[in-house]
Amino acid sequence: MYLQDYLIVLLLMCMCSCVLGATTIFNVMNYGAVGNGRTDDSQAFLKAWKAACQAQVNSTTVPVVLVPTKQTFLLSPLTFNGPCKSSRIYMLVSGNIVAPLKTAWTGKQINAWIIFSNVNGLVMKGNGVIDGQGSSWWPANPCKDDPTNGVNCKGPTGMIFQSCHGLRLDGFSKINSPGNHILIMGTNDAVVSNLRIIAPGDSPNTDAFNISSSTRVQIRNSFIATGDDCIAISAGSSNIDVSGITCGPGHGISIGSLGGGGFDVVENVRVRSCTLKGTLTGVRIKTNQGGKGYARKISFDGIKLEAVDNPIQIEQFYCPLKVNCQNYTSAVAISDVSFTGISGTSIASNVINLSCSQTVGCTNIKLDRIYITSSTPGNKVFANCFNAHGKATRTKPAVKCLLP
Ligand SMILES: *[C@@H]1O[C@H](CO)[C@@H](O)[C@H](O)[C@H]1NC(C)=O
Ligand SMILES: *[C@@H]1O[C@H](CO)[C@@H](O)[C@H](O)[C@H]1NC(C)=O
Ligand SMILES: *[C@@H]1O[C@H](CO)[C@@H](O)[C@H](O)[C@H]1NC(C)=O
Ligand SMILES: *[C@@H]1O[C@H](CO)[C@@H](O)[C@H](O)[C@H]1NC(C)=O
Repeated sequence: MYLQDYLIVLLLMCMCSCVLGATTIFNVMNYGAVGNGRTDDSQAFLKAWKAACQAQVNSTTVPVVLVPTKQTFLLSPLTFNGPCKSSRIYMLVSGNIVAPLKTAWTGKQINAWIIFSNVNGLVMKGNGVIDGQGSSWWPANPCKDDPTNGVNCKGPTGMIFQSCHGLRLDGFSKINSPGNHILIMGTNDAVVSNLRIIAPGDSPNTDAFNISSSTRVQIRNSFIATGDDCIAISAGSSNIDVSGITCGPGHGISIGSLGGGGFDVVENVRVRSCTLKGTLTGVRIKTNQGGKGYARKISFDGIKLEAVDNPIQIEQFYCPLKVNCQNYTSAVAISDVSFTGISGTSIASNVINLSCSQTVGCTNIKLDRIYITSSTPGNKVFANCFNAHGKATRTKPAVKCLLP
């Protein structure tokens, strides 16, 4: 083991468990990994994982799967399964991990590259780079012209954490995923910090984070530049706290779309202290026509905008396939949403668009201290709204449909 890895293990123990307990190291090299970036190291990783996961440990010892520094490990699509015997298990990513090119996936009906399933107390940490080799998937002419709005040309998700309660992700970089980068689903009490998620601005469906059916999730201090949503907060999520995110290029920070399934619910979401640069949308809530459920108690607070298209948007008319977009009588109800301290520039003229359904509408929408100007000096900006109710104070441009 490199001294550097050893020091990181020590540091990790101090930071994460706050007890200088013993660690048991499961170095993938000891399970047959080669680390040359060409040999498939999946079996070695799975063996190291199994050993760590099954290790008989006492309360002061933590199993650590070590991906050592200065090497690159090629992994085929694989799943790290729990539950594990220890209440905490670490994966220390000091080295790099790389996905096979698209050609090597042929014939496999696989919708994700790396899955962690039912692993409670998982800590994945380190400064390695996890590279999905997405460019081998992205069409030369991205999915934008696809009539299904990209649904049928979605590459596999980079990493899925499903039912991993107590998850911690810290420090690593996740780049060029074929599809979404990180999906956190069915997971409670997660903290994500100091990640870098990077893919080209024109890469299709490369959302950085999708949080789905999860509660008490924090995403902090991360740098995101991708071709789709920086953060998407999807159905079944509550108590989500997003802060210190730099996002762009990308599609901004979105709640939804909701209402595509059964009864979709999102509540208690706080997005604060984020910077959006050159994104297609800023902060947005979007719900499908005809959906059921609600999105409520949502705040966007302290957002800096630089040349953002569509900075503030509520859309209760979302129609992803852009066909049969009729006005249904039901919609996901949107209420108790505040936008506070949002300032900067936009490349659009309609910088605030609160577009709520005729039958359901949006209630208790509050805007305060909003100051958005055009990134082209002299150009005028305006706000648009339909059936939105609430209050706007200290807001420029003025939002006339809301009470002063
Ligand atoms: C826990 O296990 C470690 C490693 O096997 C051992 O050194 C330590 O003494 C054990 N602690 C307790 C409290 O049993
Ligand atoms: C997020 O993941 C959920 C669960 O897989 C899925 O239903 C939803 O469409 C995803 N959202 C986005 C924006 O990809
Ligand atoms: C749906 O309702 C909106 C608001 O009343 C209206 O502008 C739009 O034309 C309607 N669309 C259809 C397809 O009826
Ligand atoms: C506001 O958003 C709605 C829904 O996406 C869209 O139909 C409308 O054109 C937008 N209004 C303006 C003025 O851009």
